[in-house]
Amino acid sequence: MSAPSPSSTPPLVRLHEVRRRFLLGETAVDALAGISFTINSGEFLAVWGPSGSGKSTLMNVLGLIDTPSSGEVWFDGQDTRGLADDALTDFRGRRIGFVFQSFNLVPVLSALENVMLPLQIQGVPERQARGRAAAALDEVGLERFHGSRPDRLSGGQRQRVAIARALAIEPRLVIADEPTANLDSDNAAMVVALMRRLNHDKGVTFVFTTHDPRLLDQVDRRIHLRDGCIESDEHSA
Ligand SMILES: Nc1ncnc2c1ncn2[C@@H]1O[C@H](COP(=O)(O)OP(=O)(O)O)[C@@H](O)[C@H]1O
Ligand SMILES: [Mg+2]
Repeated sequence: MSAPSPSSTPPLVRLHEVRRRFLLGETAVDALAGISFTINSGEFLAVWGPSGSGKSTLMNVLGLIDTPSSGEVWFDGQDTRGLADDALTDFRGRRIGFVFQSFNLVPVLSALENVMLPLQIQGVPERQARGRAAAALDEVGLERFHGSRPDRLSGGQRQRVAIARALAIEPRLVIADEPTANLDSDNAAMVVALMRRLNHDKGVTFVFTTHDPRLLDQVDRRIHLRDGCIESDEHSA
């Protein structure tokens, strides 16, 4: 056997021939038509394509929220088909952070309390959760907004809270489905730049979707989806 090469490190995620079929009455729609690719730890990857191309379905499958109709999803070297529901929920809660288009913050909680939530769900003691949440908010530049409720924050600030919440669990992967779709172009660029910085400085692995090709400048890799198929998978030079 030859010495291990970097490529012999197992990928963070491996999708093999993933199909996700939805039945609409008599008709079957393949939101994902049998796609295969891998994501390595440390990547900064965008999935782009028009509305209906399968981006959200792919994020749900990558995030272990949805199960393929056929095919394999391996995460951290583990075949996720072998995980029962409870184990899958726990696996996901510890390894994957999510950011959504609509921010999904709890309106009656402060920014700090929102970021503490996933930690408390995992049983992290209150004091420790508070400290880690505060550090995550500082990391995204919201030092002065720990006590603010979402309705006192701008869209860009809300999405930064959501990114802090995703980071607080120290995930292996952050999945952001159209994180900029509800933001103006300045805030959209700011959110992508923030994710880029966290990737660069802290090694956080990001996959995000967008239908806006203008946001692709800063990514290392872009997967173009069309009709549930990978049209291209390009790495930047
Ligand atoms: N829960 C669902 N039930 C039925 N069809 C769905 C469902 N989710 C997605 N689809 C269909 O799958 C295709 C891809 O959708 P989606 O993944 O949401 O695309 P995108 O995020 O790129 O807009 C679309 O044709 C959509 O109508
Ligand atoms: Mg979508």
